[in-house]
Amino acid sequence: MHNLGILLSGRGSNFVAIADSIDASRIADARIAVVISNKADAPGIATARQRALHGVVIPSKGRSRAEHDREVVATLQQHNVDLICLAGYMRLLSPWFVQQFPRRILNIHPSLLPAFPGLEAQEQAFAYGVKVSGCTVHFVDEELDHGPIIVQKTVSVLDTDDEHTLAKRILEQEHIAYAEAINMVLKGNFEIAGRRLKQKI
Ligand code: GRF
Repeated sequence: MHNLGILLSGRGSNFVAIADSIDASRIADARIAVVISNKADAPGIATARQRALHGVVIPSKGRSRAEHDREVVATLQQHNVDLICLAGYMRLLSPWFVQQFPRRILNIHPSLLPAFPGLEAQEQAFAYGVKVSGCTVHFVDEELDHGPIIVQKTVSVLDTDDEHTLAKRILEQEHIAYAEAINMVLKGNFEIAGRRLKQKI
């Protein structure tokens, strides 16, 4: 049984999709050991507690990144977390944090990386005029929205779209992509050459 740790700061729909995928056995052999939010009022942390999961608030406001990261890492270690899923976690992890869990931290980003990293990726893509966007699940490394790509899903931009309708369709694909990526990583049947991740046959 693998222990997942979820880090979030807000709504938590990706967290809920992961929890639902575990309940429906779309993600095999895993449980959510802890959900950590840096914001006390994150809807995602309330949802975690409603679902009888262990929800922990570790406030980041007014604290140094090093101090905050130390507490988050300690909490993840206390819960024997094997894999960490960033799910709308609006904090940059320090290099020290990343080094504590090599190849064991995943992030989801609402664009086809390396296009449109950073905040409001869907709006950036829409304003740029792309015809195709999507989402990316990737390993976290020391740089923002940067590590090796695990899964990408594409979404066509329609003439009738605005940034909100596009973001909504991307979010549907995010929920599918995250479960796929977690399964792949937990099964461990992949290899990484450079930045390229390949499934082992
Ligand atoms: C998602 O769009 C995700 O790709 C990005 O932050 C958003 C979080 O949404 N990293 P939610 O909190 O999972 O609903």
